[in-house]
Amino acid sequence: MNRSIVILGSARRNGNTGKFVDWILADSGIEVIDLNELDISPFDYGHHNIEDDFHQTMDHILKYENIIFASPVYWFSMSAQMKVFVDRLSDFLSVDSLKEKGRKLRGKRGHVLSTSISEHADASYTDSFLNTFIYLGMKPGSFIHLNCKNGFVQEASNKNFTDFINNMND
Ligand SMILES: Cc1cc2nc3c(=O)[nH]c(=O)nc-3n(C[C@H](O)[C@H](O)[C@H](O)COP(=O)(O)O)c2cc1C
Repeated sequence: MNRSIVILGSARRNGNTGKFVDWILADSGIEVIDLNELDISPFDYGHHNIEDDFHQTMDHILKYENIIFASPVYWFSMSAQMKVFVDRLSDFLSVDSLKEKGRKLRGKRGHVLSTSISEHADASYTDSFLNTFIYLGMKPGSFIHLNCKNGFVQEASNKNFTDFINNMND
């Protein structure tokens, strides 16, 4: 069984980040969860949204060891789609009956795949993922970034991402 899964949080499935994901994962058989297709609402202190798609999606994600968070840089941060998803991880900290399940995140490897119109993802972007992984007891994995200043131009990238995909099946 594949040990990795991608969570894609972009405003468009076939934009730069989606294409970057498809390129990197080509032929790997790694599943991509597109957050746009799911009904996941923002964190609610009253947990009235407990029946939306977040928890059944997490049940699936928790079967994997490598969780790849793929998000464009929007305003120096992760996308709103991804932020809503990450915020919902707080359900695991605040609903007693979910705490045990949330602990299953411990030891899993969190990876980040980003695009922007800059050479590097801002520290404000990468740190938010890094600190989230550390807080949750996850192991920080690979962070890879593609500059899409001229759109997604695969041939223009002289970066080699082979190691990234090889690491996914460790
Ligand atoms: C709402 C929004 C905010 C953005 N903010 C930034 C930014 O802060 N820094 C940056 O380098 N690029 C920024 N960009 C450019 C995107 O990161 C870049 O075009 C990215 O590749 C888009 O990926 P997508 O097609 O998956 O949305 C922004 C784009 C949008 C739509």
